[in-house]
Amino acid sequence: MVDILIKAGGWLLAFGLALAAAALAVDSAFAVQMVIVAGAALIGLCVSLSRANYDASAALVVRLRATGYYDDMIRWGVIATVFWGLVGMLAGLYIALQLAWPSLNLGIEYTSFGRLRPLHTSAVIFAFGGNALIASSFWVVQRTCRARLAFPALARFVFWGYQVFIVLAASGYVLGITEGKEYAEPEWYVDIWLTIVWVSYLAVFLGTIVRRHEPHIYVANWFYLAFIVTVAMLHLVNNLSMPVSLFGSKSYSAFAGVQDALTQWWYGHNAVGFFLTAGFLGMMYYFVPKQAERPVFSYRLSIVHFWSLIFLYIWAGPHHLHYTALPDWAQTLGAVFSIMLWMPSWGGMINGLMTLNGAWDKVRTDPIIRMQVLALAFYGMSTFEGPMMSIKSVNSLSHYTDWTIGHVHSGALGWVGMISFATVYFLTPRLWGRSRIYSLRMINWHFWTATLGIVLYISSMWVAGIMQGLMWREYGHDGYLVYAFVEVVAAMKPYYLIRAAGGLLYLLGSIFMAWNVYQTIRGRLRDEAPLTDAPYDRALDLPVQLIAA
Ligand code: HEM
Ligand code: HEM
Repeated sequence: MVDILIKAGGWLLAFGLALAAAALAVDSAFAVQMVIVAGAALIGLCVSLSRANYDASAALVVRLRATGYYDDMIRWGVIATVFWGLVGMLAGLYIALQLAWPSLNLGIEYTSFGRLRPLHTSAVIFAFGGNALIASSFWVVQRTCRARLAFPALARFVFWGYQVFIVLAASGYVLGITEGKEYAEPEWYVDIWLTIVWVSYLAVFLGTIVRRHEPHIYVANWFYLAFIVTVAMLHLVNNLSMPVSLFGSKSYSAFAGVQDALTQWWYGHNAVGFFLTAGFLGMMYYFVPKQAERPVFSYRLSIVHFWSLIFLYIWAGPHHLHYTALPDWAQTLGAVFSIMLWMPSWGGMINGLMTLNGAWDKVRTDPIIRMQVLALAFYGMSTFEGPMMSIKSVNSLSHYTDWTIGHVHSGALGWVGMISFATVYFLTPRLWGRSRIYSLRMINWHFWTATLGIVLYISSMWVAGIMQGLMWREYGHDGYLVYAFVEVVAAMKPYYLIRAAGGLLYLLGSIFMAWNVYQTIRGRLRDEAPLTDAPYDRALDLPVQLIAA
């Protein structure tokens, strides 16, 4: 009873403080954000008060099996991943269409490209990707450590606190609040909130590792841990800033000029390296062997992969600042480390793909494995393309063009998206105690629509990007530029339409996933024929033969 009184008092205090901040706000956008915080506190209060039957009232959070693991937040995490994925991709499709038909911004500030672009990037990276990482890391760390999640109450705070961060960030973008730092747009108070949530996440994850009953710490946990620790460090340094007022949204960065740019891209590139790569590699190292029912191809390679990857990534940021005021040696350093990164990246890809040695037949019959294979192929492709783009002479063509957008989405849609979808399909039946997913054939449809979508997206962006770069640098005999900027913009239209069609297909695949997950949660199983009956041939299935010494 005392416990609930303290909790309710805490929520009321948060509610009161948020309302007071809203009343004292120096700008209206800050006031709206504080009303959102007050709303979140009110929801927290209601949930705390009805806590006695909380599990029963949230129909989706049912403890189906007493597994000994704490999986409630993972269930919510899977739902959040699917939900935010749809929101983020819808925003992506909308801004893609705006680039083809600018009048679709409706002439309203809230729906303008400038505000919805960060909404898209944050929704897909932090909301979709972040929830997939948090949920899967909670699953993996418990299973590989054979220990129940440490501090369940803190884990609940991590999940719900993270959703509050997402809502504050997203509503802030639409309202026009931004720090102007790419992938770190939220303002100072949202940054502070995320720091608290993130440190709690670290405590839950590390606490579980400390409690483990398994002497060895499985490699996936190393990758997840590197992701959590490094993101905390990047977030803290990149967001050092001074608020103009305690009751206003605006703040100024602690850095200026080229130092600010370098800090931003040290952060930005490592957000790619540790959020979009290391975290998802953690996912790969657990779920690929699980789905293939094979051990990791080489455990030694996974350790070499881990240490070389995290050591090299942290230096590569300056490749985003080629031909800028950054000292030349720093640009070259960034390029050299980026080129070296190719090796550990491909080491990881090979390790993942070779894990399928002896299970390649499953690629024909199991669309989840197929998604994982495609994810690894795209991981390999984008980590070849990235080092190439970091070479200064290549970057002088690719920078500022849609080639970068193509590169981003081959990593994002191909690697991050596909490996996350596979994980959602792996987890859903297990989390809700179902014998299988609602429809395997629907996963197959998802696989093909998404694959076709990616192909359309990235190939159109490559063509558009290289064309842009070449048109911009085309000089005539008279020494003048041949094309006006607007002519280059006009030439992009067909490619922007193809990209939007690709995005639509990718989104369609995710809608199939949402339906499949929803039906599985409801306990439905679609009555359908098996995917294929291709005969099993052991010789064909073992492309890498063990040679007797
Ligand atoms: C339906 C699928 C998607 C569509 C149609 C789409 C579309 C777009 C568009 C139009 C842009 C702006 C490009 C520009 O400014 O020229 C963009 C940027 C971006 N998107 Fe997506 N996107 C999709 C999915 C994703 C996913 C799943 C991720 C990540 C997991 C992602 C990550 C990004 C990033 C990081 C950027 C910023 C790129 C940069 O600044 O270089 N997108 N997207
Ligand atoms: C060895 C690995 C990689 C290297 C060396 C690398 C290198 C690069 C380079 C040189 C750029 C262009 C910078 C510019 O011209 O401004 C870039 C942009 C980008 N890359 Fe990669 N890349 C790698 C892997 C990946 C992967 C796997 C992903 C996604 C999952 C990714 C996401 C991005 C994003 C989001 C940007 C756009 C940043 C922005 O301007 O907003 N990269 N990368």
